[in-house]
Amino acid sequence: MADYDYDVLVIGAGPGGYVAAIRAAQLGLKTACAESRETLGGTCLNVGCIPSKALLHGSELFEEAAHGTLAKFGVRTGKVELDLGTLQGEKATAVKELTGGIEYLFKKNKVTWLKGKAAFKDAHSVDVAGETVTAKNIVIATGSSVTPLPGVEVDNAKGIVVDSTGALALDRVPNHLVVIGGGVIGLELGSVWRRLGAKVTVVEYLDQLLPGMDGEIRKEAGKLFKKQGLELRLSTKVTGAAVKGKIATLTIEPAAGGDAETLEADCVLVAIGRRPNTEGLGLEAIGLETNQRGQIETDHDFRTRVDGVWAIGDVIPGPMLAHKAEDEGIAVAENIAGQHGIVNHAVIPSVVYTMPEIAGVGLTEEAAKEAGHAIKVGKFPMAANSRAKTNRDTEGLVKVIADAETDRVLGVWCIASLAGTMIAQAAQAMEFGALSEDIAYTCHAHPTHSEAIKEAAMAVRGKPIHI
Ligand code: NAI
Repeated sequence: MADYDYDVLVIGAGPGGYVAAIRAAQLGLKTACAESRETLGGTCLNVGCIPSKALLHGSELFEEAAHGTLAKFGVRTGKVELDLGTLQGEKATAVKELTGGIEYLFKKNKVTWLKGKAAFKDAHSVDVAGETVTAKNIVIATGSSVTPLPGVEVDNAKGIVVDSTGALALDRVPNHLVVIGGGVIGLELGSVWRRLGAKVTVVEYLDQLLPGMDGEIRKEAGKLFKKQGLELRLSTKVTGAAVKGKIATLTIEPAAGGDAETLEADCVLVAIGRRPNTEGLGLEAIGLETNQRGQIETDHDFRTRVDGVWAIGDVIPGPMLAHKAEDEGIAVAENIAGQHGIVNHAVIPSVVYTMPEIAGVGLTEEAAKEAGHAIKVGKFPMAANSRAKTNRDTEGLVKVIADAETDRVLGVWCIASLAGTMIAQAAQAMEFGALSEDIAYTCHAHPTHSEAIKEAAMAVRGKPIHI
């Protein structure tokens, strides 16, 4: 048998790759992980989930102090001021701590970090910074990058037309921020800068925000964001941008065609999606082709068509979510080790970390009907949840979708201040094949926001208590 440098070489140290490497090492496999970024953790830890959450948290505190409910609860503040430098510093500290944490975990688990970009030479060897490294198994976990919009050139250094990385690093609060794309990134980062004082306009091609989410939740989210002051230009496309000095002028027109108009802004965020990172990987050297969407196809075990080469995370089909990649990282390592690693792709929660948060798991009402299910839907408004009412954060609702015949839960959707935390119980219930009745008869602590999930489950059979 050929002698390899490593049993497993993972390309990319994002949430998919670093988790795969750690699990492989835990299973006794000699493991390396190639990563060219200065710090581990990929997009999520460096320029994605983590820094955005720091800015979301800080801006939420600012808004709460400046315009929120503090006074209602007897907390008097003086004039509230923003120190953006300190907020950005705290974000950087969180990123440093967490990326450093992965470096510590690599050392603890004896995962070798190969610093540099890896490119295939053949199915068992790659070039990393001029060195050839061989491995019996190679896992592609290279993630994704921002999809460019033709005619709109991003320049993060200038800070006028930016992508998510640039929007996380602004050193000023824009006067007018135009967000192109009413998806997750647009709404999270749009919310950050609105809370800190910017006028924010969201231009979305479709007739509703947040594609992929439950229709009713999308509509409700649209109403809430509008109420918060986001200007929504739905069914509208951006056809070009020109930057003159510090001002960008965008040309927009109705998605269905019609008269063009212009929008001026001192900052434009392009957030129209992400695409898999496969360029420069040398896939041609191993004869591995991508599909029409640029993704690498795998089987259920995350094997590609090339023996010994595996792939996980944003680079393969499925939602581009850190937790989906992490679970695939564990599964691929277990499969390489001869175990049975499985990811249940039907139960991957998704969360938008705005205020209120928006979360869902499983099928939307539309998808459930399309799949041929006769369904029963139970809903419960957060305004009828005692804890939310007491805390004065009553916006939103919970919606449980169950199969009308079997009562099996097909999907759960919520808008609530704590929706991201609440959705975990729905995912767990679905993973165990729960009926709506199982959730309804599970004792939930009182008073908690989570009781709204219990009540929505009770509503599936028409018997909630508090509405
Ligand atoms: P997205 O796919 O969520 O939203 C992009 C939006 O842009 C869509 O609504 C689309 O209709 C719209 N759009 C596309 N072309 C357009 C055009 N020319 N003009 C106007 N609108 C246009 O993509 P986003 O927000 O960039 O996020 C990328 C990925 O990152 C997503 O897969 C998302 O799941 C992931 N992500 C997840 C987060 C979370 O889980 N909290 C946070 C941030 C990103």
